[in-house]
Amino acid sequence: MSRTTLSRYLIEAQRDNHINADLRFLIEVVARACKAISISIGKGALSGVLGEAGSDNVQGEAQKKLDVISNEILLEANEWGGHLAAMASEEMDHPHPIPHRYPKGEYLLMFDPLDGSSNIDINVSVGTIFSVLRCPEGMEPTEQAFLQPGTQQLAAGYALYGPNTLLVLTIGQGVHCFTLDREVGSFVLTQENLRIPEDTKEFAINMSNQRFWEAPVQRYVGELLQGKEGVRGKDFNMRWVASMVADVHRILTRGGLFMYPLDSKTAEKGGKLRLLYEANPMSLIVEQAGGAATTGRQRILDLQPTQLHQRVPVVLGSKNEVERVTAYHLES
Ligand code: AHG
Ligand code: MN
Ligand code: MN
Ligand code: MN
Repeated sequence: MSRTTLSRYLIEAQRDNHINADLRFLIEVVARACKAISISIGKGALSGVLGEAGSDNVQGEAQKKLDVISNEILLEANEWGGHLAAMASEEMDHPHPIPHRYPKGEYLLMFDPLDGSSNIDINVSVGTIFSVLRCPEGMEPTEQAFLQPGTQQLAAGYALYGPNTLLVLTIGQGVHCFTLDREVGSFVLTQENLRIPEDTKEFAINMSNQRFWEAPVQRYVGELLQGKEGVRGKDFNMRWVASMVADVHRILTRGGLFMYPLDSKTAEKGGKLRLLYEANPMSLIVEQAGGAATTGRQRILDLQPTQLHQRVPVVLGSKNEVERVTAYHLES
């Protein structure tokens, strides 16, 4: 049986009028950049890419060399094709305009070039997350143009650099998973229409923040920890990779609940995870796979962003658990 590559999937999607040629090209270019990032990560200490870059980003985080390298790879790959109006990234203070020497397109690309960078130096899975919006007509692609609710995303995806390199993509037609064939150099469709089970016995949260959580999260996690003997009547397992891409991918594969809730440590900033580079693309993917994503109080995709680097609390994954956590918030 012939294999469906990412290129073929996208060409067929264009033929079915789900995307146009520019959006197809955009996704191909992002996938190509992810291949380059995957190769860089794969070399590790052999090519001197591990460790600190010696700089801080706008988030106030110390940048790793690979945060900077991955950001550069994505910028360079996407600058010249004529498909973009501008790009924005976790690692850049302001949107990156397309240089004057290149034609400009209608799309806005946002990315978290390297997600889970605390895992880089210990050789644990990391990823790249991306999201695509259309630049509003007649609007300059300044920061304002990026401030659109997640429902406006035309495509979103992530690459997971784990034991295999995967690309998980949605163009609003379900969620599909492509595995990088390293010999051939192409992404091959390996799972179609991923679905997140509505129920689960697994949750993901950084338990070390427990004393900082709000009451509804204390209540919810407390009930999970009671196991069989408690109100839930079953035992729950816990996982926390600390790379959102890896934690979300597990949920897409076998269900689960992921939470980075509001806590008194991050409340001032609005939460830990970034709305435009992390929460929105992951929420679109999760919803497209039959799951749900809220802040604990509201659907994430409905939020009207007010800042490029805005942060939000995130509760996502198996629908019935997300609904329970959200109900606990709304009751309190
Ligand atoms: P990034 O590496 O892009 O800055 O993102 C890290 C994020 C996310 O991937 C993960 O879920 C979370 O931070 C982990 O945070 P803790 O270290 O607080 O657990
Ligand atoms: Mn970071
Ligand atoms: Mn991240
Ligand atoms: Mn990052």
